[in-house]
Amino acid sequence: ARRALIVVAAGSGERLGHGMPKACVDLGGRPILAHVLQRLHGLSRGLDAVVLVLPGDQASYDQLSAVGEQFGVAAGVPVFFTRGGSNRSSSVRAGVECLLSAGAADWDPAASTVLIQDAARAMTPETVYARVFAAVEAGAAAVVPALPVTDTIKRVHPEPHPDTGAEQVEETVPRSSLRAVQTPQGFTLELLQQAFAFIGDLPDAQVEALTDEAMIAEAMGVDVAVVPGSESAVKITTAADLAAAQALLQSSEP
Ligand code: CTP
Ligand code: MG
Repeated sequence: ARRALIVVAAGSGERLGHGMPKACVDLGGRPILAHVLQRLHGLSRGLDAVVLVLPGDQASYDQLSAVGEQFGVAAGVPVFFTRGGSNRSSSVRAGVECLLSAGAADWDPAASTVLIQDAARAMTPETVYARVFAAVEAGAAAVVPALPVTDTIKRVHPEPHPDTGAEQVEETVPRSSLRAVQTPQGFTLELLQQAFAFIGDLPDAQVEALTDEAMIAEAMGVDVAVVPGSESAVKITTAADLAAAQALLQSSEP
């Protein structure tokens, strides 16, 4: 059984608004991408390959590939770099293609596991990666980490009230059946290859609506298993998220 990890770090970080790709943004003295890699040391001995999918502009690419070399996983684990695409799913595809050309084309696709991690979830603890690997290796073709939803979630009518213009509640969605999904998401290499073949046959508008690889599995009729995520694995999207990650870092480091 082979294990690979693809970290997608090619996004531009518009909503964070630092004028640079999000993976380059400083968090407690190091770029966000460094935090992802630093948390992998215990696990990384068991990895057969790590692929970092980086922004296309040369300065960011150079900075982050240096981070990959410096904070890279355990000695002996090969780390590969490639450039991402214009959306997350094309960056994931670039990562899978890089993995295949780096040697995974010779792996047994049904017995190989690929995890896809968002660099933006910088603080994801190693235990979550371990759980996802274990669930795929126990027989699930697709696995997502998730947490119960604590907010009360209401669905609103598609049209606002004609007189007041206010949104109107349609119903309260039962919270017990809702989960907030995180990364890393795990798949057999076989399913990932089938998933890209599947979306290749769909119209663009439908592909756009598939926001993660687990959704492709769902659209293919493949069961997606859920394992526990982590409160620490929050996605850094806005300035408030970055501040929260900074606080988490300070409380976890002496
Ligand atoms: N991502 C990527 N390639 C893209 C877009 C996103 O690799 N073309 C990655 C990001 O680097 C991030 C993850 O996908 O790790 C989740 O994306 P998101 O949080 O939306 O990051 P950004 O796209 O960078 O942020 P924004 O949407 O605010 O620009
Ligand atoms: Mg984005």
